[in-house]
Amino acid sequence: MFQFTAENLKRIEAERKKYPTADSAVMPVLWIAHEQNGNWISGEAIQAVADVLAIPVANVYGVVSFYTMYNKQPVGKYHLQVCANVSCSLNGARSILHHLETELKVKHGETTADQLFTVSEVECLGSCGTAPAMQVNDDYVENLTIQKVDALLKELGR
Ligand code: FES
Repeated sequence: MFQFTAENLKRIEAERKKYPTADSAVMPVLWIAHEQNGNWISGEAIQAVADVLAIPVANVYGVVSFYTMYNKQPVGKYHLQVCANVSCSLNGARSILHHLETELKVKHGETTADQLFTVSEVECLGSCGTAPAMQVNDDYVENLTIQKVDALLKELGR
């Protein structure tokens, strides 16, 4: 069962004070739940967010289902989110994605058997000037090349 830690309840209280209504605080509180739950939002976490903000669970679910940044299922230790939007695609993102799938033996949307990597194809990361780009958990890796990807995978324990 998902329960916020005492520390996160304090963080939630602080976030809540920044917003005029409980509904408007749902995104930062979801982010705290996402972080505590190992980088994804479970049904129990959605319920806990609704409970802590005293809002209907449907309001929380609506936000989770709309925004792709909330993972709806468990992901690996390293979530490799490859941008496949225009600038990145024009600069080789498809080759990067294909290389990751080949190297890690997964299709995008899947997690490696050792739970180390999840590969996702995502929309624009707002880093078009340094395309192709990907996000690894909370960090950006930019100006990607196959060599850079290989070095990163090695660094992350591949
Ligand atoms: S198109 Fe890839 S970061 Fe914008």
